[in-house]
Amino acid sequence: MHSQQIRSTFLDFFTARGHELVRSSPLVPDDPTLLLANAGMNQFKPYYLGESPAPYPRAVSVQKCARTSDIENVGRTARHGTFFEMLGNFSFGDYFKQETIAYAYELVTRDFGLDPERLWATVYLDDDESIRCWEKVGIPTSRIQRLGKEDNFWSMGVPGPCGPNSELYYDRGPAFGRDGGPAVNDERYMEIWNLVFMQFGRGEGEGKTDYPILGELPMKGIDTGMGLERLALLLQDVENVCQTDLLAPTLHTVQELAGRGYPGSGAEKVSFQVVTEHARAMSFLIADGVLPGNEGRGYVLRRLMRRAVRHGRLLGIDGPVLPAVTGSVIANLGTAWPELAEQADLIEQITRAEEESFGRTLRQGAKLLDAAVRRAKEENSGTLSGETAFELHDTFGFPVELTLESAHDAGLAVDEDRFKALLAAQQQRAKSGGKAKTAAALRRQEAYRELVARHGRTEFLGYERTTAEGTVLAVLDEGSPVAAASAGQQIELILDATPFYAERGGQVGDTGELRTADGTVLEITDTRNGLPGFHVHTARVVEGEIRSGQTVEAAVDAVRRSSVARSHSATHVLHAVVREVLGKHAVQHGSLVDDGRLRFDFVHFSALSQSQLEEIEARVNQRVLADPEVRVWHADRAEAERAGALALFGEKYEDTVRIVDIGDFSRELCGGTHVAHGAQVGAVRLAGDVSVGANLRRIEAWTGFEALASADRERQLLRELAGLLGSRPEDAVGALRKRLELLARAQGEVERMRGAELTALAAGLAEKADAVPGGLLVATRVEGVTAQELRQLASTAAVRIASGAGIVVLGTAHEGKAMLASAVGARLRERGIEAREVLSEAAAVIGGGAGGKGALASAGGRHADRLGDALSLARAAAATVLGRSTR
Ligand code: SER
Repeated sequence: MHSQQIRSTFLDFFTARGHELVRSSPLVPDDPTLLLANAGMNQFKPYYLGESPAPYPRAVSVQKCARTSDIENVGRTARHGTFFEMLGNFSFGDYFKQETIAYAYELVTRDFGLDPERLWATVYLDDDESIRCWEKVGIPTSRIQRLGKEDNFWSMGVPGPCGPNSELYYDRGPAFGRDGGPAVNDERYMEIWNLVFMQFGRGEGEGKTDYPILGELPMKGIDTGMGLERLALLLQDVENVCQTDLLAPTLHTVQELAGRGYPGSGAEKVSFQVVTEHARAMSFLIADGVLPGNEGRGYVLRRLMRRAVRHGRLLGIDGPVLPAVTGSVIANLGTAWPELAEQADLIEQITRAEEESFGRTLRQGAKLLDAAVRRAKEENSGTLSGETAFELHDTFGFPVELTLESAHDAGLAVDEDRFKALLAAQQQRAKSGGKAKTAAALRRQEAYRELVARHGRTEFLGYERTTAEGTVLAVLDEGSPVAAASAGQQIELILDATPFYAERGGQVGDTGELRTADGTVLEITDTRNGLPGFHVHTARVVEGEIRSGQTVEAAVDAVRRSSVARSHSATHVLHAVVREVLGKHAVQHGSLVDDGRLRFDFVHFSALSQSQLEEIEARVNQRVLADPEVRVWHADRAEAERAGALALFGEKYEDTVRIVDIGDFSRELCGGTHVAHGAQVGAVRLAGDVSVGANLRRIEAWTGFEALASADRERQLLRELAGLLGSRPEDAVGALRKRLELLARAQGEVERMRGAELTALAAGLAEKADAVPGGLLVATRVEGVTAQELRQLASTAAVRIASGAGIVVLGTAHEGKAMLASAVGARLRERGIEAREVLSEAAAVIGGGAGGKGALASAGGRHADRLGDALSLARAAAATVLGRSTR
């Protein structure tokens, strides 16, 4: 049975039984506690927790999931992957154990045709009810086992819904190991389906078992998950998941690249599987907007890519691996998952760039490693330190397995214990930092959840108006509900209905004012979504007292709101234009839509040229000023997609989406507030583009009045410059150019005059030379010259002394420092006299050293007051060398 048939059989079975077909949410979850989507139930979490009402009582989905906790097992077992497709059926307060067990049994035995005699089940410790249900459908007690919390109690790994579960297993037969059921052998008895009975809420805590149960869920239900890969493995009767039709074409590509076949066992087999499996995971992650980086999901992706490259190298593939293997993933799965095909260019570019940069890392790391190995050998230590291994890993991203291997080849051991200790300490540091933050955030979330459970979501009135009446549902002080708050207090305020937009989709939250009939005034400094669709107003009580239950008149700062709306519409126009000018790959990757300015991040691989920026700016303004209509409409997700609406990376959308069209050139899913007509945006001015990470660029721009204000600032600057130049602003450039020419000429003149002056001075000095045995000698102080001029003077004077037989020593004090220069005539140089030897003692006296050689030397020092002494010494030294040179 082909995987597409498995998917549709599953979906058809449950839709025929009243389940709403829900599409997979993106791998980047709409849940701050979760790094990546790890189960089909993620997107339904708010329903179980009672944060939002479930729009349907039952649902079915095929969910993209990523889990990297098992990454070491990939390739080592038949069934582990970092990415998988999870087939799941869900009930929210509808059916429970009996129905779900009956559904599961019927589907696998009838529609999928698995042999009933090979099915086993496990249940949570005392869950007798599930045992009875399994027996009723046909699994005998002898093939039902009880397991503990570790195996049969499921949670997301983060705070959220959880509950006991029951798992269905398939016996692959004695070829896969000893008997005894899933409790003793989970390779032979392979888990295929996990049925979770969602009943409780879990709090903050470590791992699978160590966390508090917070109580019963507001909405109990069912959450099941069956791995498509495992089912395909059984139904296609292959040995491991890489051989199923989901991955076989990619495995084939790896074989082609490696130029050898897929072996039945051993280390090479592991490498084949790692490259194959990771290729699929990275393709999906990139398609959902994850880019390789050094933290969070970016790091998960980077790790997968590097691991795949490394295993590719182990297979002897020297050229690029990733673009080819991800290409085969796209070719194979791009129909079932159109996002892969849509992002094919991006996947190819990102994988290529990352592989190249990893190549550099490897080369750099290899050099460091070689040096460390050499040192260890010289020191005869026989061991490479844990610190070195850690530094290579941490700072250079050099895989530790490589360090181990290279050390091994060089006959060295690696202090692995120390390495592991350093790694653990670092992970601990990273964790505790993150945890304090989550704890505070969780307290707040708890309060919000209770309020939503009691009152439902906030009614948002702000698309139509900026003032409205509302009732205060709660006043929160540091996350705790209080009856009232008085002047001066900072609080959070919840209303039943509000015109205040809560920050979302890059658009900043509204600010403004609340008033009550009895004269209380509050300033709203921000509005955000405490939970999806639940508006939290950050407020300061300015006057009077605010109480829960009061009616308030809420007024958004409408001027600011219009300015933000201009930025939002401008951002959509910019998005469309950037893709026209740079190419379809340049999709939005985050934005800030603010009062009079915007920041727009998008995928692109190089800096923008000045002419590209100018073209983008010009086109944006053309578009805006052509005054296109801005139209907002609603549709279901599929219809919107057919209509070509751009969905943003990583955003989760409801089934009914809001679509914003601008003219005929921009159509995006968007919940933000916009202008009604393009021309209301006014002007857009780009401030430039910068890099904000690998393959990500950022354009900042001013909009509306701020665009004018930025032009105004430049005009003011020009006016000031023109004022200084005494010209009109439009003539400033010409005026400045003239000034610069004039200045250059004047500088030339000054230099010429100074040159003449120095030549005359040098001539005077030469004339004053005294005759001493062996030659002529000048040693004197001059004033008002720079160090450079002092050397020039000494040199020129020495040349001027008759037949090159003189030594000139000059000294000056300049800016509190003493300087000396000595020059030796050509004849004396022939006799072997060095300018520097004349200065060496004198230099010491002024506190410096003599530099230079041959005909010219100089020295400088702090002791300007000792210049006289220094000159006397230099004169004596010069006389001595002259005397000596005649002998
Ligand atoms: N949430 C459960 C799991 O991921 C069942 O879907 O295994």
